Amino acid sequence: MTSPVRLALLGCGTVGQEVVRLLHEQSADLAARIGAPLEIAGIAVRRLGRDRGDLPVDEDLFTTDALGLIKRDDVDVVIEVVGGIEPARSWLVEALRAGKSVVTANKALLAEDGVALHEAAAEGGGDLYYEASVAGAIPLLRPLRESLHGDRINRVTGIVNGTTNFILSAMDATGAGFAEALEEATALGYAEADPTADVEGFDAAAKAAILASLAFHTRVGAADVHREGITEVTAADMASAQAMGCTIKLLCIAARGVDPTGRETVSVRVHPAMIPRSHPLASVGDAFNAVFVEADAAGQLMFYGRGAGGAPTASAVLGDVVAVSRNRLAGVRAASESAYADLAVRPMGEALTRYHVSLDVADRPGVLASVASVFARHDVSIATVRQGSAGGPAGRDGDAELVIVTHVAPDAALAATVGELRGLDIVRSVTSVLRVEGDA
Ligand SMILES: NC(=O)c1ccc[n+]([C@@H]2O[C@H](COP(=O)([O-])OP(=O)(O)OC[C@H]3O[C@@H](n4cnc5c(N)ncnc54)[C@H](OP(=O)(O)O)[C@@H]3O)[C@@H](O)[C@H]2O)c1
Repeated sequence: MTSPVRLALLGCGTVGQEVVRLLHEQSADLAARIGAPLEIAGIAVRRLGRDRGDLPVDEDLFTTDALGLIKRDDVDVVIEVVGGIEPARSWLVEALRAGKSVVTANKALLAEDGVALHEAAAEGGGDLYYEASVAGAIPLLRPLRESLHGDRINRVTGIVNGTTNFILSAMDATGAGFAEALEEATALGYAEADPTADVEGFDAAAKAAILASLAFHTRVGAADVHREGITEVTAADMASAQAMGCTIKLLCIAARGVDPTGRETVSVRVHPAMIPRSHPLASVGDAFNAVFVEADAAGQLMFYGRGAGGAPTASAVLGDVVAVSRNRLAGVRAASESAYADLAVRPMGEALTRYHVSLDVADRPGVLASVASVFARHDVSIATVRQGSAGGPAGRDGDAELVIVTHVAPDAALAATVGELRGLDIVRSVTSVLRVEGDA
């Protein structure tokens, strides 16, 4: 058999340890599939003494000198499962410029500065693979960057953060508020001690940027993504959604569009939204992920599975390791980044959405007309109005509940409408404002 493909593993935490285990358990199969054995040349960590269980690997392989490991001549492939922007970016740029292939799960880095990595890969001639960076175990990036390259993708809608999906699923099932559901997620290990990256939508926004770049052959970075988290979603919002036959999910939505000047654009956003229970994404529960792709010829495709966890993520990492190793043995590299479309990123204010607005209003004649005139003033057309009884869930005696769902309109017009409604004296409170996706 050919000489081994030598791997530098950067990071040996949740994902890295499973990578080591899978490399050990499947070594014979992996060697047969690649045509050469895989061998770990070294493992870079922060703390040498940390307990990593009974990992099937020689202690001597561990080092705290990641850069020294990357620079070694006997390293062919660098696997990065450390996370964060620096020093990961410098390490990977160094590795790629030196002609090594890189496999990474680092969504934050790819969304922040994927360009630097792609440029370094082009310069060095190695591969840059990152299947594990979005939706964990789900084969998604390879289909986008290979299988669907003969088609035109128009829209990608996804649930790409397991923590927030667990929280929203719990709120839907039990009527719990956000804080209570977060507590449960933390107790069960679905939320980290600091859940900010998940609940504020940063993690999903990074993934949205990666998905949009691949789907539309353009460059989208984290800063181009409109981001809202789920911390403001209340039990009352969920009850409103349920009353309409919907649930609430944190969605990442990347869509092609055309701006008023006729220029092709892409809009990328992450925010909670109501979706009808009949939508394929509505039944994605617990910490699962799913991504719904709409393409011209293929039609609608749905990718579903475990979006996180050591073993599922390691599965995606290993798939990439096999691919880049085969390429090295064959003396080829995968196609470079495809960003030729160079689409303009459309500001959120121009994104076309629908709103569901619940108002607690004074229960007296003319109120409905006054509220409707605010919508009309901002050119937002109302699709349905439902009036609840005085003293309903959101109201008090002498009040009524109005639930309004709009037709599609620019997000800025909808936001301005809600802003003006908040200032009306007949509106006691705006109890819920949610975007609506799908045919609710
Ligand atoms: N966990 C998941 O379910 C999941 C899913 C998809 C993608 N990812 C991505 O995979 C990556 C790793 O995640 P993880 O959950 O495995 O993280 P983790 O458990 O925190 O492990 C991080 C590893 O990196 C090492 N490390 C940190 N700073 C270092 C430094 N300066 N030099 C050398 N080593 C350093 C740590 O060393 P010590 O062990 O010595 O502390 C640890 O082994 C991240 O990019 C994450 O976004 C994770």
